[in-house]
Amino acid sequence: MNNQKSSIKNYQSFLLENIGQLTTFNPDSGEVETTSNTSLCIEDGIIVENVSGESVDCSGCLVTPGFVDPHTHPVFKDLRIDEVAMRKAGATYEEIAAKGGGINSSINGVRNASEDELIELVSKRMDQFLKMGTTTIECKTGYGLNTEAELKSLKVIHEVNKHHEIDMIPTFLGAHAFPPEFADNHDSYVDLLCNEMIPAVAEQGIAVFCDVFCENGYFNVGQSRRILDTAKEHGLIPRLHADEFEDSGAAELAADVGAISADHLMAVSEVGMQKMADKNITATLLPGTTFFLDKDTYAPAQTLKEMGIDIALATDFNPGSCHIQSMPFIMHLAIKHMGMTVEQAFASSTYFSVKALNLEHEVGSLTTGRKADIIVWDVEKLEDIPFHNSELPIKMIFKNGKAIDS
Ligand code: NIG
Ligand code: FE
Repeated sequence: MNNQKSSIKNYQSFLLENIGQLTTFNPDSGEVETTSNTSLCIEDGIIVENVSGESVDCSGCLVTPGFVDPHTHPVFKDLRIDEVAMRKAGATYEEIAAKGGGINSSINGVRNASEDELIELVSKRMDQFLKMGTTTIECKTGYGLNTEAELKSLKVIHEVNKHHEIDMIPTFLGAHAFPPEFADNHDSYVDLLCNEMIPAVAEQGIAVFCDVFCENGYFNVGQSRRILDTAKEHGLIPRLHADEFEDSGAAELAADVGAISADHLMAVSEVGMQKMADKNITATLLPGTTFFLDKDTYAPAQTLKEMGIDIALATDFNPGSCHIQSMPFIMHLAIKHMGMTVEQAFASSTYFSVKALNLEHEVGSLTTGRKADIIVWDVEKLEDIPFHNSELPIKMIFKNGKAIDS
């Protein structure tokens, strides 16, 4: 990014001028709209109709909203790079997990790390997300898997969020896997989640959402329903990892419990999709995971869309099944492997991804009254964004109207 940002950092009200193309999803028309040769007014971090103040020159470049990433797992110690070679040697994600790898092999890292160590790691990860244009991000726990380490993970998200410019939305994912101490007694872990962990999470008051990995070999539908019903009673909003590897009826459960989103859906059934459509559940699709795990079946984006289901896109950034942090690369995969147009992938990475976080009235669209979360690109048009796979062509990023140092 160039140096212009430092000179504009503290403007309370300013005009972004000389925008070549302003491209944003417009919630009123329901379309991605592009306005040429225009400007944008910002006051106290919000987009307004008119403003008198300094002006910032965009040199005819493209301007879009910042990306919103509605599914990440950033609270962990180390990436599990060794699993890439194991997959190359023929082992599947499920087989690696069964042999003691997978989610459970990330537990000790989180349990043994101090809060400060995790804060430093998560903060650096957030720097990278923001540098790539992500201005709002959902962040899950899920590698502590006991009360103490899960509360610590939520505290880490909360502390980083206090100091970092990116907006982090915390999700409790204590139901990510059965930790080794409950390997032979899964229902006792579900008891612990419902009787101790969820009440403690609610009491701590940081988490907004409660997620469950509902999948054969992980939490079954009955266990997931019990966890999400308990979460709802404690004021947490349900969301689900649903039908990632096999259809286990998780999409139907998402509809039954009124989840805000069902995520993954690579193996979702017709019935599951119909129920999601009936209940207006957003489908959050994670093509980076399919790509990273060398699978060849991507989620059925076209069918979901034809059934009238809103589609959000997310990275699923985590230590095992996807190390990707770039939303433009996720758009690239969605366009190439799920038949989405550039405009659809863009709308799903901005407006529909905030729908999956209940924030559609605040961010995700450059329209009056929403936060000034803005990317000024070094390219002229939307079509140029998804196909830069090294350094992203970003000139300036504004979060809440504040220019971000890179
Ligand atoms: O979304 N599917 C479950 N959870 C993660 C994987 C986490 C891990 O492998 O560490 C996911 O892909
Ligand atoms: Fe995930």
